[in-house]
Amino acid sequence: MAGELLREALTLDRYPRSNTYDQQWVVDNLMGPHPLWCTESLLQVMPLRPGTRVLDLGCGTALSSIFLAREYDVDVWAADLWVDPTENWQRIEDAGVAGRVHPIRSDARRLPFARGFFDAVVSVGSYHYFGTGVDYLPYLAELVRPGGTIGFISPGIRTAPDFTPPPYLANRWAPDLGTWLPPDWWQDLWERTNLVTVVTADFAPNGWDDWLHWLQTCAQVGRGYEPDEQMLQADQGNLLGLTRVVAHLK
Ligand SMILES: C[S@@+](CC[C@H](N)C(=O)[O-])C[C@H]1O[C@@H](n2cnc3c(N)ncnc32)[C@H](O)[C@@H]1O
Repeated sequence: MAGELLREALTLDRYPRSNTYDQQWVVDNLMGPHPLWCTESLLQVMPLRPGTRVLDLGCGTALSSIFLAREYDVDVWAADLWVDPTENWQRIEDAGVAGRVHPIRSDARRLPFARGFFDAVVSVGSYHYFGTGVDYLPYLAELVRPGGTIGFISPGIRTAPDFTPPPYLANRWAPDLGTWLPPDWWQDLWERTNLVTVVTADFAPNGWDDWLHWLQTCAQVGRGYEPDEQMLQADQGNLLGLTRVVAHLK
């Protein structure tokens, strides 16, 4: 698929900021659902004030970090476990945001930051890897100032975690799917800490269709992931989508 066709296929009215980016660059650096669409969707319910300090937790290839700095004018610490921060630094420099995005390799459970340092934490497609324990939000919240904001968007399932999966889900079932959880599950986990007020816990509008459309388009350029594409296709948006959760610290 030529660059112009890729751009056309990945231009959606609901993501005007993402539309201005080179979609080949996004495809080349993909790690899950479209990282710019996901970030833009999360930021629609999680406004960030310009000039604030933001931790992009589980930033992967740092596309969301670059996007946050360029589009929302914030300073970003781009933390990830698997991706080499030197590679991210190259992408950050190439994108012209070297003064505003700071790459670091860190486990989300051992973050090397001062208490109260961040105004906000953003996590795109990653929080479910490390954040499902009852003690994780209290740990993370220590790094955020009072009144600050924590928000994430991740794959999710619409129903309660003790349901019996239909065959198309059962066939693909692996431990990672056990962490695809519904918005109200997360809301309950976070509210029982009594540390935060949850302001959004929902399924992102168009999460399922965006995710499937992204995988189908990536498949056309040899970067698809068939098991997830087939699963989403079979699901028809009944169970699967993207969970968004945003909370303010008390
Ligand atoms: C599916 S990728 C998403 C990456 C990126 N945010 C995106 O949307 O393309 C999940 C990311 O979570 C990160 N991750 C998983 N466990 C982690 C942990 N314990 N600490 C920090 N990052 C972690 C991985 O390094 C990986 O980059």
